[in-house]
Amino acid sequence: MCGIVGYTGSSPALLVLLQGLERLEYRGYDSAGVALVEKGELYVDKKVGKIRELVRSLWGKDLKATAGIGHTRWATHGEVCELNAHPHTDGSSEFAVVHNGIVENYRELKEELEKLGIAYRSQTDTEAIVHLVALNYEGDLLKAVLKTLEKLTGAYAFAVISAKEPGRIVAVRYGSPLVVGIGKGENFIASDIPALLPFTRDVIPLKDGEVVDLRPDGVFIYDFKGNLLTKDVMHVPWDIISAEKGGFKHFMLKEIFEQPRTLSDTIRGYISRDLSLPFSLKDFRRVLVVACGTSYHAGLVGKYWIEKYAGVPVEVAYASEVRYSDMQVGEEDLVLAISQSGETADTRFSVLALKEKGSTLLSLVNVMGSALDRESDYTLYTHAGPEIGVAATKTFTAQLAVLYALAVNHTEDRQVKMENLLRVPHLVEEYLSNSEAVRELAIRYADRRDFLYIGRYLSYPVALEGALKLKEISYIHAEGYPAGEMKHGPIALIEEKTPTIAIAPKDRVYEKMLSNIEEVLARKGKVIGVGFEGDENLKKLCTNLIEIPPIEEDLTPFLTTIPLQLFAYYIADYLGLDVDQPRNLAKTVTVE
Ligand code: G6P
Repeated sequence: MCGIVGYTGSSPALLVLLQGLERLEYRGYDSAGVALVEKGELYVDKKVGKIRELVRSLWGKDLKATAGIGHTRWATHGEVCELNAHPHTDGSSEFAVVHNGIVENYRELKEELEKLGIAYRSQTDTEAIVHLVALNYEGDLLKAVLKTLEKLTGAYAFAVISAKEPGRIVAVRYGSPLVVGIGKGENFIASDIPALLPFTRDVIPLKDGEVVDLRPDGVFIYDFKGNLLTKDVMHVPWDIISAEKGGFKHFMLKEIFEQPRTLSDTIRGYISRDLSLPFSLKDFRRVLVVACGTSYHAGLVGKYWIEKYAGVPVEVAYASEVRYSDMQVGEEDLVLAISQSGETADTRFSVLALKEKGSTLLSLVNVMGSALDRESDYTLYTHAGPEIGVAATKTFTAQLAVLYALAVNHTEDRQVKMENLLRVPHLVEEYLSNSEAVRELAIRYADRRDFLYIGRYLSYPVALEGALKLKEISYIHAEGYPAGEMKHGPIALIEEKTPTIAIAPKDRVYEKMLSNIEEVLARKGKVIGVGFEGDENLKKLCTNLIEIPPIEEDLTPFLTTIPLQLFAYYIADYLGLDVDQPRNLAKTVTVE
């Protein structure tokens, strides 16, 4: 995790670094720092807390350096403190490094370095890199880095500068993301594309095992052996406006309200043609969906659709559980990796291991050019644009849209089903334009400490996702559960102060859900229902009802999800919490 940025050119580097860091803050915000080569010497400043603390510390300092590196941290090794914040420097303060990922053999390296009399200052794994670079330096930063790489194991991206070679940045990608931005007389690096967008849309996403030597007038990319590589420059189609808040108080709220457009963009991307996959799901013995967090919940919804329309058994697994399991996969299996970022380490490394075992790897990602995109046999994209809020919203519904398209891909009436899917963005828009009631409801329940979310069939994953949203941004304990399973344990949690959110659209399990709601009411629980407009049964039964436009069974998750996103958002906002950057989380987790 963490965010890295670097600049070399003729403008003041600090401004570029701080702007870049702000855009990377979603990757971690425990501390932030910069290193510049100022008048032939290294200048380092780092502060615990968000980027604004660093900005405050740098305020009024007339720093003219035209090259530097910056970092925003999500702590993995070592507590959150200034000493552990990046950039890290060597003993003579001639080299500085920023790092994202994990150096797995850092303990051995530390021992070796200490034997050589090198004193460690931090508790980080990162410090090993900078000491090694200093040790290996013989007048050429690139050579020193290449030599250092021979010693490192793990998954990482890092960037190094040296006071001895102002204007030069050497950066490496091996398991954590890194993108080069190409300018005129200036060049950039960053952990992802949005951080580069204010400056350039011409980028080269590095592959694992590549090193870039960045100078104001040139970008040279090498493999770890030092062979020069030829790389294509990619022009990014997004513009910067799509990554701004656009008048909304938070990115998350903006992204929730963007869903009519992101859904319609995603659906339209697949409506007039099939998915251009050279196979049918039916060609496989099994589809194994591998994902984390919200993407995992999308996979659970996809399972029902794929089993219904393609008739293939689907297994959905947490990536972190797959990686060290003895799962039996082979050529007969299709592995479907779902990941908004396409960079989540758990997902990437587990599906790469499954690919090694002979399975076909299909990915569903939102970020073109991301690691998973490149590493997969085939990729499908959600066209949701950059998502900045740490809690995923618009990318979840976009993932659902692609999963539906995938499930119905080879059905005879595919076109009819896809045209029908295009009704969803309109209905989502209709609901959003009339969603004030959920805000009032959220405020009314904001003082509760526990919530249960229940649903069955397609609404079960929606319950999980609703509970996850609440946990992530409001820090309120919430549990998602299959409604029918409540009686086997969790019903013991029901009491007056623990509200249950029951997702009960009129589908095949509607009557069953009504019974499950009764069971909660019988234990004096309060029930907030999510159901179709005008559902009098539900209205009578529930303490409160969130009404969504009626829609056919298949497509209910698109509509039931939206009020739950809003409910979590409004509670967190009412509690004055940092909605876009909740504590302890990061948007893209590139460490295991
Ligand atoms: C992090 C984020 C979650 C996200 C998960 C998977 O934990 O905080 O919101 O669902 O990663 O991310 P991915 O990019 O693989 O979908």
